[in-house]
Parts: sequence; structure tokens; C-alpha cells
Amino acid sequence: MIRATSRGFLWLGIAVILFLPLPAIGQQQVENCAACHQALPDGRLAEPAKQFVGDIHAVKGFGCVSCHGGDAPDTEMSAMNPAKGYIGKPTGTKIVDVCGRCHSDARFMRQYNPALRVDQVTEYYTSVHGRRLKEQKDSKVATCASCHKPHSIKAPSDPRSSVHPLHVADTCGSCHANAEYMAPYKIPTDQLANYKKSVHWRMMANKGDLSAPTCNDCHGNHGAAPPGISWVGNVCSQCHAVNGELFSKSRHSQVFVQMGIPGCATCHDNHQILETSDELIGTQDKAVCTRCHTGEDRGGKSAAAMRAMIDSLRQEYDKAHAILLKAGHAGMEVSQPEFDLNEAKTALIKARAAIHAFSVVTLKKEVDPGLQVSAKAYAGGLKALEELGFRRKWLAVSAVIILALIVGLVLKIRQMESAQKGSDKEGV
Ligand code: HEC
Ligand code: HEC
Ligand code: HEC
Ligand code: HEC
Ligand code: HEC
Ligand code: HEC
Ligand code: HEC
Ligand code: HEC
Ligand code: HEC
Repeated sequence: MIRATSRGFLWLGIAVILFLPLPAIGQQQVENCAACHQALPDGRLAEPAKQFVGDIHAVKGFGCVSCHGGDAPDTEMSAMNPAKGYIGKPTGTKIVDVCGRCHSDARFMRQYNPALRVDQVTEYYTSVHGRRLKEQKDSKVATCASCHKPHSIKAPSDPRSSVHPLHVADTCGSCHANAEYMAPYKIPTDQLANYKKSVHWRMMANKGDLSAPTCNDCHGNHGAAPPGISWVGNVCSQCHAVNGELFSKSRHSQVFVQMGIPGCATCHDNHQILETSDELIGTQDKAVCTRCHTGEDRGGKSAAAMRAMIDSLRQEYDKAHAILLKAGHAGMEVSQPEFDLNEAKTALIKARAAIHAFSVVTLKKEVDPGLQVSAKAYAGGLKALEELGFRRKWLAVSAVIILALIVGLVLKIRQMESAQKGSDKEGV
């Protein structure tokens, strides 16, 4: 009996949501919901009405009824009459239905913004969040209203939006970094803390580079697939294409799949991705290679050889750079060799990416031209310094000659002066 009634209410609810009228574009409704709510003493009831002023839906001319239903012109409590479509505070899948009513309707949305996607609900139901909500009635997962705070919803490009790139991490972290909230799931809760130590977050937060990834760039806005290994590997390569391309053809790419470990994240981690350095390759202390290789096996030997190649290119570049700098400071014209040396710097950058082929032969192809350029630039610097030495020598010699001439001249003048004095005396 009770069951039958609650099922009846469920159907009523669904029917109400489905048949809420979609407002026509440009139609400004007289609404009294907000006026009464703003004046209510209970913050829970008043805040939504106060915040809503800046919500994108209010800006586009929608009122409270577009999500909650009810009788907009009514100024009394009877405005919230379920018979007039009022649904109260939506929860769970009802929230998704409320948002999806407009956002999954391509024809309706096109009137406002033809570029806006209309697949959020479909995508959401493929995510871990959506699947758990639908299949397990798990009300703790994120719904549309967890990531987009109702009553202050903004476009993702708006810096005040909860889904602006700089705020996404904290929005996800509000659950995922809450150990108590997440306790039933037995998954780590360190993603936010680790991400905030990463080079990606620092690029974004300190350098304002919004092309660096935050949570949704790797995990999808509305879900897509849960993070499986091959999928996540593809995610890094979307931005780091060269590294991805080389890695995919490497021996590691095959064996890591067999070992059941991820690609990039095995060496770089997934959330706490740090700046890299040449010390990460080789068989020394800080090298990641030593986790699996020793100096004795083939991989380890290659690692040592690759490190030696990178080191020599870096050292040769530094040497050439230093000598050109010295010559330049001394006033010698070295702009051409300095320009040429840029090629060695490019080679070094390319070599650091090329290590992802994990092949000595591939790395050599990048390193060798860089070494040649460095050697040539170094020779150019050396020549400039030799010429400088030569010029200085001549400068010294000519200075001595000039000095001798001056001394001679002075002596000659004195001699002439004393000769003059002698003849004067004679004349007296
Ligand atoms: C005359 C004042 C008044 C008007 C007009 C009014 N409300 Fe309310 N509203 C209230 C009060 C008071 C409550 C709290 C009632 C309760 O707790 O039963 C409330 C509760 C709500 C809630 C929360 C329900 C919940 O389950 O927590 C929503 C949502 C809501 N109103 C939406 C609306 C909408 C939409 C309209 C316009 C169609 C509207 N209200 C018109 C006074 C008003
Ligand atoms: C874009 C859809 C949308 C619009 C428009 C909207 N709301 Fe809501 N509102 C929601 C959703 C979704 C929830 C449930 C929030 C949650 O679960 O956190 C909610 C919750 C509420 C609550 C309950 C708050 C609580 O903490 O329990 C009140 C009251 C409310 N809305 C009033 C309003 C009023 C008044 C307006 C107009 C000024 C309005 N809403 C406009 C979607 C909307
Ligand atoms: C009555 C129809 C309707 C309902 C219901 C609705 N929206 Fe919207 N929403 C729109 C329209 C129209 C826009 C404006 C699109 C534009 O012009 O960019 C919009 C804009 C947005 C935007 C900003 C998109 C952008 O990039 O410009 C977000 C985010 C959003 N809505 C989320 C939600 C969520 C979450 C819900 C449910 C709580 C919801 N909407 C309910 C119609 C609706
Ligand atoms: C787990 C968090 C999360 C959930 C749940 C979520 N969204 Fe989003 N949503 C985002 C993020 C993050 C963006 C920003 C994407 C970007 O930067 O372009 C976004 C963007 C949007 C946009 C702008 C257009 C677009 O697709 O980029 C709309 C509209 C939207 N969401 C609606 C919804 C609706 C409707 C639901 C419920 C079915 C929902 N969202 C559920 C996080 C979420
Ligand atoms: C309202 C709280 C809440 C918010 C906000 C939230 N999540 Fe979740 N998320 C959960 C819960 C609960 C689970 C279920 C955990 C499970 O399945 O083990 C989950 C599961 C996940 C999973 C699957 C984990 C696994 O391997 O089982 C990923 C990935 C995820 N969320 C990413 C995100 C991202 C990215 C955001 C922000 C864009 C976000 N979540 C926002 C509560 C939330
Ligand atoms: C640079 C890409 C990237 C970013 C940014 C990122 N993640 Fe992840 N995330 C991953 C990878 C890779 C995995 C591991 C997946 C696997 O092992 O199957 C993962 C796993 C997870 C999991 C599953 C549990 C776990 O820790 O293994 C959750 C939950 C999660 N991430 C949430 C987040 C949240 C929240 C943020 C933002 C604070 C975030 N992620 C940012 C790539 C990323
Ligand atoms: C077996 C370990 C390993 C794997 C797997 C790996 N890397 Fe690396 N990665 C390194 C090492 C070591 C360096 C440092 C090279 C140097 O500076 O000499 C590095 C450097 C980098 C750099 C900085 C240098 C540059 O090219 O800009 C990026 C970016 C990078 N890796 C991305 C990736 C991506 C993306 C993947 C997956 C496709 C990946 N890595 C897989 C070990 C690895
Ligand atoms: C949305 C694009 C994007 C995605 C996805 C992405 N990155 Fe990055 N990554 C960047 C940007 C931008 C930087 C900072 C600029 C740079 O150094 O290239 C960066 C920097 C790095 C660095 C530091 C490079 C250095 O010079 O020391 C590493 C290592 C790295 N990412 C690895 C990864 C890994 C591993 C993944 C996948 C788990 C990944 N990235 C996913 C864009 C991305
Ligand atoms: C997670 C473990 C792991 C890490 C970390 C790792 N490797 Fe490997 N590597 C392997 C495995 C397994 C093989 C396959 C060995 C085989 O073919 O018998 C391999 C093979 C190689 C090979 C091919 C050897 C050949 O000629 O067959 C090279 C080169 C190599 N690794 C270099 C490196 C370098 C350089 C690093 C550090 C930047 C590194 N590896 C880090 C596990 C790892």
C-alpha cells in the first residue's frame, strides 16, 4: 500500500518535470517567488533568491519556476502548489532531469547559444558519478548541482564560476579531499593535495597558463570513461603529443601494458607531476630507471648511455654559450655564432623529449647535430677571443710606439729650447 503510494508520487514527480512548460525566448515573466524569498528570515530560503541575481539563468531571463515550477505571478504561499507544477527542492536524478529538460534539448538551446553542447546528461550517465547515482541510488556522488552551484551558475569562462579552470580542483576537492565524506569508498583522498604540488597547477595558478590541465581536462567534464589505463595514457598525449608518439612506439609501451601499469604515470605520477630534469634518467640516485633496471641489464646500460649523451650535449652547449658570452662582453662581434647556437638549444629540448623512445639510436639522432653546432659555436667564440688577444697585443705595441714618439718629441723640444736659450745668452 505504502509502496504503491510512493511509486505514485514518483510518477507524478516525473510527469511534473516533463511537462513543466519551457519558457519562450524573450518572454519576461512576472515572478513573485524571489521577492517573498528574499525577505524570509531563514538563510536557507533567502540566500538562493539573493544569489540568483547573478546566475546565468537569471541573466538570460529565466525565473525560479523554470527549475522549481509553481505559479509565478502568485504572491502567496499558494504559489508553491504542486498542482501548478511546483516540485520543491529537487534531489538525486530529479536534479539531472531538471537541468536536462533544457540542456538536452538541442532545439531549445540553439535559440540561446548554438555553440553550446547538449550532451551533458548523456555523458554524465557514463561517468562513475552518474552510474552510481542511477544504478545504486548513491546520493553522495556529484550531480549537476554539486559542480554547478545552483543560484550562482556561471559559464565556465567566468572567473567566478565554480567550474572556471582555477576553481575546478577545489570544486572536485570539496568531496574528493574530504576523507570523512569519502570514507565508505576506500579510495585515496590525496588527489587535490597532490595536484596542487604539480607543475600543472603551478603553471595555471602562478603563471596564469590556463592551457595546463586541471581535474576535468584529464577526467572529462561530465564523465566520459572512468580512468582506465589506456585512456589516461591518451590524455597526457593530447597535450604532450611528441612524448606520447615516441613512447607509444617504445618497448616500454608494450611491456607496461603486460605489467598492468600505466604509461606516463609510472614515471611521472598522475596527480603530483613534477618538473623534470636530466637527473631522472640514468642509473644514479635520482633516476626513475633504477626502479626497474640495474646497471647490468640492457635497459640499464642504455639508460646510462642516454644520460651520458644528454649530459655531454648540455655541457658542450653551456661551454659554447659561456665563451660567446665572454667574447660578447669584451665587445667582440659574435651575434652570428650566438644565433647558430640556438639550434643546439633546440636540439637539447628535442633530445629531452626523444628519450621517450627509450632507444639510444633515436636519441643519438637528436644529440649529434646539437654537438656539432655547439662545437662550431665554441670554435667561433675561441676565434673571437684569439682575435681580441691579437688586437690587444697590437694596441699595446702601438701604445708603446706612440709613447716613445711623445717622449722623443718632448726631448726634442727641450733640446731646441736649451739651444735657443744658449743662442740668446750669446746674443746678450
Ligand atoms: C509568500 C512567500 C513565498 C512565495 C511567494 C514563494 N515562496 Fe517558496 N517558500 C516560502 C517559505 C516560507 C518556504 C518554507 C516552507 C516550508 O518550509 O514548508 C518556502 C520554500 C521554498 C522552497 C524550498 C522547499 C524545500 O523543500 O526545502 C523552494 C524551492 C521554494 N520555496 C520555491 C519557490 C518558488 C519557485 C516560488 C514561486 C513559484 C516560491 N517559492 C514562492 C515562501 C514563499
Ligand atoms: C537553474 C535551476 C534553478 C533555478 C532557476 C532556481 N533554483 Fe532553487 N534550486 C535548484 C536546485 C537544483 C536545488 C537543489 C540544490 C541542492 O541540492 O544543493 C535548489 C534548491 C533551492 C532551495 C533549497 C535550498 C536548500 O539549501 O535547501 C530554495 C529555497 C530554492 N532553491 C529557491 C529558489 C528560488 C527562490 C529561486 C529563484 C530566485 C530558485 N531557487 C531558482 C535549482 C534552481
Ligand atoms: C529553462 C531551461 C534551463 C534549465 C532548467 C537549466 N538551464 Fe542552464 N542554461 C539555459 C540557457 C538558455 C543557458 C544560456 C546559454 C548561453 O547563452 O550560453 C544556460 C546556461 C547554463 C550554463 C552556462 C553555459 C555556458 O557556457 O554559457 C551552465 C553551466 C548551466 N546552464 C547549467 C545548468 C544546470 C546545472 C542546471 C540545473 C540545475 C540548468 N542549467 C538548468 C537553460 C536552462
Ligand atoms: C563532476 C562535476 C560536474 C558535474 C557532475 C556536472 N558538470 Fe557540467 N561542467 C563541469 C565542468 C568542470 C565544466 C567546464 C568545462 C569547461 O571548462 O569547458 C562543465 C560545463 C558545463 C556546461 C557548459 C557547456 C559544456 O558542456 O562545457 C553545461 C551546460 C553544464 N556543464 C551542464 C551540466 C549538467 C546539465 C549537468 C548534469 C547532467 C552537469 N553539468 C554535471 C563539471 C560538472
Ligand atoms: C558531491 C561530491 C563529489 C564531487 C563534487 C565530485 N565527486 Fe567524484 N566521486 C564522488 C563519489 C562519492 C565517488 C564514488 C567513489 C567510488 O566509486 O569509489 C566519486 C567518484 C569519482 C571518480 C572515480 C573514482 C574511482 O576510481 O572509483 C573520479 C575519477 C571522480 N569522482 C572524479 C571527480 C572529478 C574530476 C570531480 C570534479 C570535476 C569530482 N569527481 C567531483 C563524489 C564527488
Ligand atoms: C594530468 C591528468 C590528471 C589530473 C589533472 C587529475 N587527474 Fe585524477 N587521475 C589521473 C590518472 C592518470 C589517474 C589514475 C587512473 C588509473 O590508475 O586508472 C587518476 C585517478 C584519479 C582518481 C581515482 C583514485 C586515485 O587516486 O587513483 C580520482 C578520484 C581522481 N583521479 C580525482 C582527481 C581530482 C579530484 C583531480 C583534481 C584535483 C584530478 N584527479 C586531477 C589523471 C589526472
Ligand atoms: C620510463 C620513464 C618515463 C615514462 C614512461 C615517461 N617519461 Fe616523460 N620523462 C622521463 C624522464 C627521465 C624525463 C627527463 C628527461 C630529461 O630531462 O633529460 C622525462 C621528461 C618528460 C617531459 C619534459 C621534457 C619535455 O619533453 O618537454 C615531459 C613533458 C614528459 N616527460 C611527458 C611524458 C609523457 C606525456 C609520457 C607518456 C606518454 C611520459 N613522459 C612517459 C621518463 C619517463
Ligand atoms: C590539457 C593539456 C595537458 C594535459 C592533459 C597534460 N599536460 Fe602536462 N603539461 C601541460 C602544460 C601546459 C605544461 C607546462 C608547460 C610545459 O612545460 O610544457 C605541462 C607540464 C608537464 C610536465 C613538466 C615538463 C617539464 O618541462 O619539466 C610533465 C612531466 C607533464 N606535464 C606530464 C604530464 C603527464 C604525465 C600527463 C598525463 C597524466 C599530462 N602531463 C597531461 C599540459 C598538459
Ligand atoms: C616500471 C619499470 C621500468 C622503468 C621505471 C623503466 N623501465 Fe626500461 N624496461 C622495463 C622493462 C620491463 C623492459 C623490457 C625488458 C625486456 O625487453 O626484456 C624495459 C626495456 C627498456 C629498454 C629496451 C632494452 C632493450 O634493448 O631491449 C630501454 C632502452 C629502457 N628500458 C630504458 C629505460 C630508461 C632510460 C628508463 C628510465 C628513464 C627506464 N627504462 C625505466 C621496465 C622499466
